[in-house]
Amino acid sequence: IRVAVIGGGQNCEHDVSVASAASVRQALDPSKYEAVALTIGRDGRWHGPELGALASGSLAAALDVLATCDVVFPLVHGPQGEDGTLAGLCELAGVPYVGSPLRAGALAMDKWATKLVAEAVGVRTAKGALVTSTADFTGPVVVKPVAAGSSFGVTLVRREEDLEPAVRQALELDDRVLVEEVLNGREIDIAVLDDPDEGRRTGPPLEIQVPGLFDTTVKYDGSARFVVPAPLAGTELKALEDSALKVYEALGCRGLARVDFFLTDDGFVLNEVNTMPGMTAESQVPKMFAAAGLSYPDLLDKLVRGAMR
Ligand code: DAL
Ligand code: MG
Repeated sequence: IRVAVIGGGQNCEHDVSVASAASVRQALDPSKYEAVALTIGRDGRWHGPELGALASGSLAAALDVLATCDVVFPLVHGPQGEDGTLAGLCELAGVPYVGSPLRAGALAMDKWATKLVAEAVGVRTAKGALVTSTADFTGPVVVKPVAAGSSFGVTLVRREEDLEPAVRQALELDDRVLVEEVLNGREIDIAVLDDPDEGRRTGPPLEIQVPGLFDTTVKYDGSARFVVPAPLAGTELKALEDSALKVYEALGCRGLARVDFFLTDDGFVLNEVNTMPGMTAESQVPKMFAAAGLSYPDLLDKLVRGAMR
């Protein structure tokens, strides 16, 4: 089975996606799968050993390679990848792919749209407002680009004078910016998996323990502690699973998503949904399922088989 593993991409999470794709290529069971590497450069050009030298870089050449593959594993995080564009490309090319279809990717990549959908199905999110320039300051807030990932462009603002620079920084990554109330609570993530053997299910929740903010640096310098399963009361676990499944279904996700929450004094509040979360062996999702006895290669096998059904 030829699996096109696509990494890279044209946004700030390029390196994160390259790492996810490299890990997946290495961990796919070689007795079953032939991994075909395709990387999208920051400039949008496609690279890969199977792309002809002359045509290298063109989408047409990449489509020719995709046509020789049985399934695609799109590991581009962020805009122009995880936002549904790669799913749409695979749909048009007629090749099955791991993960959510275009609509779910587009909705989940948009933190404002995600908020509206989640609230509509009764899942709480942080109070927030959409700004396109600056906003009235009403206390500590988190400023983030509507569509980005790995906390790039995200700032915790405590003083009014820091608001405008934070908004300007977020505007470098998107033309819409979200200003949200700061949530105080434990940061707890849970994954939803469409398991081809056992059906749709959640994995054990993972708690992120960091002294300060789980920002871009802490996300990838290895200093964050992941506790799996997150210690939760039975009723809390049930509420978390129900909320994650509700949002996953309302957005129309498929295959896999990591749904990130804060556990506040008033219960769980949705932070965001990642339709193609970090997938290195050290990333949250593989750690969650490993704690449930599902190895990283076996998780990938389920994702690929699920996509091909
Ligand atoms: N956006 C990063 C890759 C994550 O959610 O894991
Ligand atoms: Mg994210």
